[in-house]
Amino acid sequence: MDSNYVRIFDTSLRDGEQAPGASMTSAEKLEVARTLARLGVDVIEAGFPAASPDDLLAVQTIATEVGKTVLEGSPQTEPPIICGLARCTRGDIQTAWEGVKGAKRPRIHTFLATSDIHLQHKLRMSRAEVVARATEMVGFARSLCADVEFSPEDAGRSDPEFLYEVLGAVIKAGATTLNIPDTVGYTLPDEFGGLIAGIIANTPGAKDVIISVHCHDDLGMAVANSLAGLRAGARQAEVTVNGIGERAGNASLEELVMALRTRGEKLGLRTGIDARQLCRASKLVSRSTGYPVPPNKAIVGANAFAHESGIHQDGMIKNAQTYEIMRPEDVGAVQTTLVLGKHSGRNAVSKRLAELGYPLEGEALNRAFAEFKKLADRKKAVLDADLIALSSDERTPVPELWVLEDLQVACGTTGLPTATVRLRGPDGTKFVHAAVGTGPVDATYKAIDALVKVPVSLLEFVVNAVTEGIDALGEVSVRVRHDDQRSCHGHGADTDIIVASAKAYLAAVNLVLSRQSSAHVHAQKSSVESPSPAK
Ligand code: KIV
Ligand code: ZN
Repeated sequence: MDSNYVRIFDTSLRDGEQAPGASMTSAEKLEVARTLARLGVDVIEAGFPAASPDDLLAVQTIATEVGKTVLEGSPQTEPPIICGLARCTRGDIQTAWEGVKGAKRPRIHTFLATSDIHLQHKLRMSRAEVVARATEMVGFARSLCADVEFSPEDAGRSDPEFLYEVLGAVIKAGATTLNIPDTVGYTLPDEFGGLIAGIIANTPGAKDVIISVHCHDDLGMAVANSLAGLRAGARQAEVTVNGIGERAGNASLEELVMALRTRGEKLGLRTGIDARQLCRASKLVSRSTGYPVPPNKAIVGANAFAHESGIHQDGMIKNAQTYEIMRPEDVGAVQTTLVLGKHSGRNAVSKRLAELGYPLEGEALNRAFAEFKKLADRKKAVLDADLIALSSDERTPVPELWVLEDLQVACGTTGLPTATVRLRGPDGTKFVHAAVGTGPVDATYKAIDALVKVPVSLLEFVVNAVTEGIDALGEVSVRVRHDDQRSCHGHGADTDIIVASAKAYLAAVNLVLSRQSSAHVHAQKSSVESPSPAK
């Protein structure tokens, strides 16, 4: 392989999903994995199989559905490596193997902390014990899988001499990739680059394995640090779409890829990513995690290619290179093209969705087409962005236990904001309730709460216009929490933002209910499979 090729290891489904409230359903994870494969990522870290039976199942599904063949649209000639994370324990490693073994190219990724802070306060292990455990567990992983990655957690704050010792030992035990995490986003670019150079120069066997970088963004330097590591000789970068991840997140895939590409002449490195799919991947991950993309986000933000000031606009008209270092089409930024009207047929909608990279078929296409017709009646021009928003519920469907049938609100400067909601319940029965609230959305949510009877607290409510203009489609994203569950998010789009708000809330509540019932099934299954221990 070309020595300047940088492997892109995407951990949106593992480190990204660890971001507070970013948890995804299995259907969403599968859709994200498919999108990553089409984008051309080399490795998909599909999850942490030992975390829960659901996580294991999601990794197994991705391994067989995405990790066996090259998906249409992918620039790669091999399916991506499917990787599962494991702590340095036999149980975790065995479960990670169960997760990934169905893939054509499986990988086990195991980690153990190496900084003195972690050794003393978290692991309560000596350095010698860490070396012994890491060596034994990498050896065990290698007995199951030919491709084993080891990460010394908190490497950024570890003693480099100790790192050389641990890393040398795990190479001997069979590790094929050494990933160097700046777990707490502490290092500066020159320090991190120096750390990677030191590891390559001083670790016995380092030149025979792939060195990887994994940087967190606590000081806003994750991409800069990753680039410094690559310039020092690392040839794998661990990243997430939109930079989602623990705390301030991870290095962002789209920023790193476009930095390598736009500054290719200076850096001399390349990736296998089809950059024209970046915006699509960004939208999908944002929607699936409920994490909105800030408008000023590099590469994929709504304003990343917008020119507001007169001087800039004048320059752009004369020559786009005056203010643009990349072209919007290079990263697949959807132009607001007028595409379809109310006389367009099902075939035209299906064809345009496929051209945009969102193919739909059968019932999913029928439902998206019905939504398109409703929108075309209300909105004079249906744009690409509208079509993408409308079809997104069909791409990552949430179980529809409760369905919004009707909504009527009364609000204004006089009287109490009141909402009357009619829902269809899981058994098809229809229920109506009216409630008052502090505003129309609050009243709607109170009426839904009274019918569904699942008390949730609203953590986040975000509304965005999909396109410009008074008739724009409004997209609402909400995040709710029920008891001590991880939070769930929901999404809804409509020209009426109260209706979009109701759809988003109901989608989140439906997700809470479906998680409760799958937890119940798991609990019942395990009480049948494993008799309770003798007292
Ligand atoms: O940040 C970190 O240290 C990690 C490891 C598990 C690689 O995510
Ligand atoms: Zn991490």
